[in-house]
Amino acid sequence: MNRSLHAIVRSPSPSMESCELTHVDREPIDMARVAQQHGRYVELLRELGCQVVELAAQPGLPDGVFVEDPAIVLDELAVITRPGAPSRRPETASIMEALRPYRPLFEIASPGTLDGGDVIVSGQTIYVGLSSRSNQAGIDQLAEIVGPHGYEVRGVELTGCLHLKSAACAIGNDRLLVQREWIDPAQFEAKRIVETDPAEIGAANVVWLGDDLIYPSEFPVTAERLRQQGFRVHCLEYDELAKAEGAVTCCSLLIRGQGKS
Ligand code: GLY
Repeated sequence: MNRSLHAIVRSPSPSMESCELTHVDREPIDMARVAQQHGRYVELLRELGCQVVELAAQPGLPDGVFVEDPAIVLDELAVITRPGAPSRRPETASIMEALRPYRPLFEIASPGTLDGGDVIVSGQTIYVGLSSRSNQAGIDQLAEIVGPHGYEVRGVELTGCLHLKSAACAIGNDRLLVQREWIDPAQFEAKRIVETDPAEIGAANVVWLGDDLIYPSEFPVTAERLRQQGFRVHCLEYDELAKAEGAVTCCSLLIRGQGKS
């Protein structure tokens, strides 16, 4: 159980069909299935001990359900990002208010852009994907904010996917799940690497909650690899939300530990 873990989530927007898409084709989205899959996701967070903070759906924020992108939460502080897609920048105001009770807040400013989905915190190393959404100015600003707290920020190259966390995710402070097709694991030197099954494209995105993982049910071979690593793997259907180019980490903003100092 993770009793000191909070998770901010937001209900899917009725305008979700107008979401940003970069690497997937637009297709009709069944909003009843979206609600069902998102509901199960939130229920699972609660079952695993998270105290869930639920924000209301926003008709004007098509991608608003993907709360991971407007912020980065560390133990010491939170950074409100400046999302790379202009349509997503209005998402930050409500996330800022939701995070205010928990952490001192810092902000990425123009010309910087940064999406939370491009950020992996792995111990004291913060990897940032050099994607179409996050730029060097954003990375430099992040490094200035977190440097005094002992974090090293490193830009990493990726290809063929939207965000760094499409290609790799932390499953521990020194261990990463990585999809070699989209990122060269050598960039994560000194970290332990678990590779996805090469036939399971999109399998690197996973919510890490200590010994528990939240994971899409469509990647059974990689799920078994994760079980062999000692994790309890909690699988759920996510295919309808994935039509909006989201992945499981996108739907929650995790706040580990207690309030702000
Ligand atoms: N639809 C998710 C994104 O493009 O940010």
